[in-house]
Amino acid sequence: MRWIRAAGRGLLAVLVVLTGYAASGTAPAGGTPEGGRGPMTLATAGDLTGYLGRVLDGWNRAHPGERVTLVELPDSADETRSQMITDLRSGAGRFDVLNIDVAWTSEFAAAGWIAPLDRARFPLGSFLPPVVDTATYDGKLYAVPYVTNAGMLFYRKDVLEKAGERPPRTWAELERQARTVAPRYGLGGYAGQFLPYEGLTVNAAEAVYSAGGSILGDDGERVTVDSPAARAGIGFLTRGVRDGWIPREALAYTEEESRQAFQDGRLLFLRNWPYAYAGASGEDSKVAGRFGAVPLPGTDGPGTSVLGGSSLAVSSHARHPESARDLIAYLTSERVQRRVLTEGALPPVRAALYEDPALVRRFPYLPALRASLLTAAPRPKSPHYEQVSLAVQAVVHDAMAQGQTSAAAVRRLAGELAAIARRR
Ligand code: GLC
Repeated sequence: MRWIRAAGRGLLAVLVVLTGYAASGTAPAGGTPEGGRGPMTLATAGDLTGYLGRVLDGWNRAHPGERVTLVELPDSADETRSQMITDLRSGAGRFDVLNIDVAWTSEFAAAGWIAPLDRARFPLGSFLPPVVDTATYDGKLYAVPYVTNAGMLFYRKDVLEKAGERPPRTWAELERQARTVAPRYGLGGYAGQFLPYEGLTVNAAEAVYSAGGSILGDDGERVTVDSPAARAGIGFLTRGVRDGWIPREALAYTEEESRQAFQDGRLLFLRNWPYAYAGASGEDSKVAGRFGAVPLPGTDGPGTSVLGGSSLAVSSHARHPESARDLIAYLTSERVQRRVLTEGALPPVRAALYEDPALVRRFPYLPALRASLLTAAPRPKSPHYEQVSLAVQAVVHDAMAQGQTSAAAVRRLAGELAAIARRR
């Protein structure tokens, strides 16, 4: 899959140069840009399943005067964020529509980089309830949810069956199976995304939330992380590395490396987003048909996922905001949302699709994913989210890599978060 994407990306870069900026302000074939209507660019993080170009082709065929050019930024959330911000700050306005991570809504809205939207224009009532909240800031809608996401536990069904075990519902079960079953079958126990970047913030927050703890209060300011629950959550991660059931290689994993390790048949358990299901079922996977996905485990039953995903926002400098809003309506329509799942292997935001029997047959993890999404918790909603996330990543990575106690890690994190609050 990767080489196709890499080749596609080269081509995209050429297209952007040839059509994207050249089209700005000029009349494209088949239409004349007037006022808020005309060609535009859509900036997004790496399209890991390579489907979005096809979806946009559909729009382009029907709207020759309002063509959209896809600008694919890096896979990693952090790098995409910084490239978007560089553009937005410079006022260069290269990006008209932005596919922003749900974690950035507050920051982008507070900085004035994205424009508020009229709620009445979008069918928010047919979206899964928790996702709409991730696109609002200060009571206003600043983006329209496009893709949602919840972490799931992928497990090797064949191995657990041979060992006479069921997929774990609690950390204690996961830990026991990762310690005792995995080595018998030559496998690493458990991995997630543990490189210091946004993915580690997600994994750490899930561990804390799943133990009943929190990082910041609902106001996004008060530091609440120094608690027994947070110590238990972070302890799950640090103990895993210390005791060897989390392989040390996982300290350098983002989503893609961890997906590869699982589909190469190197892991018993993997925490990842549902997109990994498609790769692990693919022709080049060694585990196709031999794995399952269940909700993340927690202290005494299923845990809590972080709510992931992305929303579509209109840049405050958008050249053609009317066309940008229509494009967003198209991408969040039921028809395109179905393709988000069937071609993109990404969780759609439209609630009805999770109960469509034909889709459930084809994507057997949908009911478990829906349950995870409905109980998923957002990341702290802070306009200074980046600093908060950087502190979480750094502290948790150090604790995992250097075998620090979770008590020391949580104390250090509380101190760093308080310092961020004081600097405001
Ligand atoms: C996924 C999620 C996103 C999260 C990122 C972290 O892309 O959808 O919300 O921030 O992973 O790596």
